[in-house]
Amino acid sequence: MYYGEKVKLRALEMSDLDNIMKGWNNFEMRRFLAHAMPMSQNAEREWLERATKAKPWQDGNITLAVEDKKTAEFLGTVSLFDMSKQMQRAEFGIAIHNPENFGKGYGTDATKVMLWIGFQVLGLNSIYLYTASYNVRGQKAYEKSGFKRIGEFRQAVFMEGQFHDLIAMDILKDEFLEMYPPGRVVGEV
Ligand SMILES: CC(C)(COP(=O)(O)OP(=O)(O)OC[C@H]1O[C@@H](n2cnc3c(N)ncnc32)[C@H](O)[C@@H]1OP(=O)(O)O)[C@@H](O)C(=O)NCCC(=O)NCCS
Repeated sequence: MYYGEKVKLRALEMSDLDNIMKGWNNFEMRRFLAHAMPMSQNAEREWLERATKAKPWQDGNITLAVEDKKTAEFLGTVSLFDMSKQMQRAEFGIAIHNPENFGKGYGTDATKVMLWIGFQVLGLNSIYLYTASYNVRGQKAYEKSGFKRIGEFRQAVFMEGQFHDLIAMDILKDEFLEMYPPGRVVGEV
């Protein structure tokens, strides 16, 4: 129900479980996320049950499905979590599940639409994220969406037997509004 140039962000449904199970246990994708342990259908169903019912301000998180705008293919999920009413800030997370869909512009587009929701619908003031230093594709997608690199935690990620730095990035509402002033929506650009 919120559209970008290439994607539609819509509510997650329990019927997304099969699509999530198809893509989630794929190391090529999971090596970029916080942990890469195999996830059972049972655990995923429990997560999906919570995610489909979550109310942003009550539960402090919102996860939406990312879908191809033209074909309605399920591409992955995008989230805002650890939302603070007091600080008006939230952490951002995204996963395009099938590596065949990496680098096609879906991630950048979904990020912009979720920022638009965060700032223009939920009224947040600041959105931040953490990403592994080796996730260069992610950093490019985030920079194109308006995030700025603000620092790094040294050796904070352990993946494939090695420690890597964890990059912190953020974007303020005012910075986003320069890209998308009131009255303008992401999909129109
Ligand atoms: C990170 C992610 C959301 C980015 O979305 P995406 O649709 O793949 O990325 P986009 O196509 O929008 O943009 C990627 C940019 O990086 C570039 N890129 C693509 N593959 C790359 C690679 N292997 N190395 C470096 N840059 C790469 C692209 O050329 C593009 O930049 P450009 O438009 O200037 O040419 C997506 O790849 C993903 O979900 N990956 C797996 C999980 C993950 O990393 N989640 C985020 C954890 S913080």
